[in-house]
Amino acid sequence: MTIGKNVSLKSFNTFGIEAKAKSFCNITSTENLKRVLKEQHSHPLFILGGGSNMLLTQDIEALVLHINLKGIEVVNETKNTVTINAMAGENWHNFVLWCLDHNYGGIENMSLIPGNIGTAPIQNIGAYGVELKDVFVSCEAIHIRTQTTKIFTKSDCKFGYRESVFKQDLKGEYIITSVNLELTKNNHSLRMDYGAIQAELETLNITNPTIQDISNAVIAIRQSKLPDPNDIGNSGSFFKNPIISAQQFKQLQENFPEVPSYKISDKEVKVPAGWLIEKAGFKGKRFNNYGVHNKQALVLVNYGNANGIDIYKLAQLIQTTVKRLFNIFIETEVNII
Ligand code: EPU
Repeated sequence: MTIGKNVSLKSFNTFGIEAKAKSFCNITSTENLKRVLKEQHSHPLFILGGGSNMLLTQDIEALVLHINLKGIEVVNETKNTVTINAMAGENWHNFVLWCLDHNYGGIENMSLIPGNIGTAPIQNIGAYGVELKDVFVSCEAIHIRTQTTKIFTKSDCKFGYRESVFKQDLKGEYIITSVNLELTKNNHSLRMDYGAIQAELETLNITNPTIQDISNAVIAIRQSKLPDPNDIGNSGSFFKNPIISAQQFKQLQENFPEVPSYKISDKEVKVPAGWLIEKAGFKGKRFNNYGVHNKQALVLVNYGNANGIDIYKLAQLIQTTVKRLFNIFIETEVNII
């Protein structure tokens, strides 16, 4: 196990921002992970997964542990379901494709989400009406300070909208090493209530879709509005959709009758941040080598060699403008480092 010095992180973050790790270690087994944690316990650590949900604004002085654990295995099977254990370093979308190849259903709506298996529970990834928690059984994690292994059940994880215990009470305490998901082998329950999926299937002339068809539809929708990090650096949705009170929403609707929304409860409404940002005039705005994506205002982009601080300043400008115009604060979804 080697520890590299001054390693460039450019290819390890989907924003494609240049920043250096003072020291860097590639972790390929849980034994090595435990050993490094034990030996380096006095050093500050930075845990790196797929690098798809962070904006680097500076070099990292800590020891970066790149969680590169690989492996996918069926651990339990019933007549209708299968439980799969996937290691933290597996790429999420490759895992979705593997499941589709085996005709395992449940995560096809989450096709093409960037990032790795190990980071999926941290923010309860989701798209097109499905969230990780819908198929999640448990995950295994190593406690950083004591190197003990713990199994977290679904309820232990306290999942919420882009939230979990790993972002709250247990922030920075555990490293997720693998995840168990339960998927269907037959009679898949297809979720097509998200308008865009229906429309895409109609365009494709599909009336009796399979999980593969749903995945293809999701991929087509995502590719039409979200930039591919291999072409244009980005971290997906930069902001969370804000949840406001029904009373505040009523006022907003009086001024902007066309505002889209999702009802959360009688008391709360979720408003798309992308709509607020577009209304604030930022959609497609380009400043030199960075800006706001022209097809989805929720996504900030690096057109090449952008500086993380510039993108962060743009995010702050968007936040203050949206707050001033709508009196709504939009929280970042991406971690600012
Ligand atoms: N909208 C605009 N302008 C924009 C973008 C969106 O007016 O520039 C409006 C759309 O017209 C639509 C509404 O906002 O009425 C919602 O847009 P969309 O369906 O694209 O979804 P979203 O709320 O912007 C969320 C997730 C995405 C996920 C999609 C689909 C968050 C923060 N984002 O986006 O997740 O793919 O729904 O389920 O919840 C991610 O987390 O990285 C991500 C891409």
